[in-house]
Amino acid sequence: MGLTNQAKMKSIHSPKACDEILKNKNFEVLSMVDFLNVMTEGTSNDFYYLKLFTGTNLFLTNGEEHLSAKKKLKLFFTPSVIDSIFPHIKQIVRRCIDELPANSEIDLLEKFIIKVSSYSIYQALGLSKKYHDKYLPYMNILLKALSLSQPLKLKDYYELERTIDKLFHLIEKDLLENQSSSPGDMNFYTFSRNKEMFSREKTIAHIIFLLGAGISNQFTMANMFLNLFNMGKEKRELFLKNNSSFEVVDKLLYFSGGVETIYRRITTEELAEKFEMSVGDLTAIELAKANKEVAGKCPFSTTVKSPSNLNFAFGKGIHRCIGDYYSCLILEEVLTYFFKVFPNSRQLSNHDEPFYTTSENRKLFVLLN
Ligand code: HEM
Repeated sequence: MGLTNQAKMKSIHSPKACDEILKNKNFEVLSMVDFLNVMTEGTSNDFYYLKLFTGTNLFLTNGEEHLSAKKKLKLFFTPSVIDSIFPHIKQIVRRCIDELPANSEIDLLEKFIIKVSSYSIYQALGLSKKYHDKYLPYMNILLKALSLSQPLKLKDYYELERTIDKLFHLIEKDLLENQSSSPGDMNFYTFSRNKEMFSREKTIAHIIFLLGAGISNQFTMANMFLNLFNMGKEKRELFLKNNSSFEVVDKLLYFSGGVETIYRRITTEELAEKFEMSVGDLTAIELAKANKEVAGKCPFSTTVKSPSNLNFAFGKGIHRCIGDYYSCLILEEVLTYFFKVFPNSRQLSNHDEPFYTTSENRKLFVLLN
């Protein structure tokens, strides 16, 4: 069943408890699939695209269904495949930075972060930049289907069905045009089709899901800029000089993950008793808070050993992020190249609240210098 109004929620942020819950498969993600099956019994054509999407959405699937799809998707997100497509992505990153107007005031989110993260994921998945403006408005609606912290209303399901239907057909059109114009390009679509990983229809549904999941990269990038601006020029220069680009991203990740909270439902009596809750209740796992606790009070010079294993930014356990390597490469390139081209840039607004995938009306005004 989907999340009901009766379910209680407990907030968890101690790193130990977060770790324990995320590694225990009896804490399940919230599945919209069961709800849709109940709701559409006898009317199998209703929510055709939404069902296709939820069935391919790893955030919403549990058990065997989740494992087998994840195993296949991971084949594309390995370092060797991502390294092979990275030269194209690096070009996109550099072009987006080179096109920024020096000595001017801009909203870095609108003019750079959203663009660079979208263009690069389009390239990786096999979509063309041509449809950029058309894809963008769907993203916020899609986010609703990705994290089910709130029970959805029937009208939300209809809205999601319409959105996914439109997106599906737009992507289909784009892929047809794009493949004939650049047949040699390696990307998720060609990789999946060449290896016969998924049917054409399911590949497109996975692309829709990956577009949505990839949004976290945008928020994480915004937070990294925020942290670097808040350091001030001198400290920032030292930090960037004394750390490799990998270390820069690795250390910033403790304070910059774009996913603040994820949810799990308790499914066994034993666990319910241990956590003083009931079966069906939810735990809100506060990744951002847990990470601050892990890194302690010494930001950016953390001496924590093997930080990546302790970092909660990409989640933990069977639902851990598959876009981690891809995102870190982009973040490294973005930060090092941006501050090389604009070393004296500074933030104009006093914004110091982190950006999360749930944030609205986001702005990050910056003087490019
Ligand atoms: C810095 C950027 C990113 C951050 C901080 C991030 C964070 C996360 C987190 C916390 C989860 C776990 C969710 C949960 O357990 O409920 C997750 C899962 C996932 N992420 Fe990312 N993500 C990022 C970028 C990306 C990108 C670029 C992609 C793909 C293009 C991606 C694809 C996925 C997928 C497919 C999952 C689901 C894994 C599963 O349920 O098994 N992520 N991400």
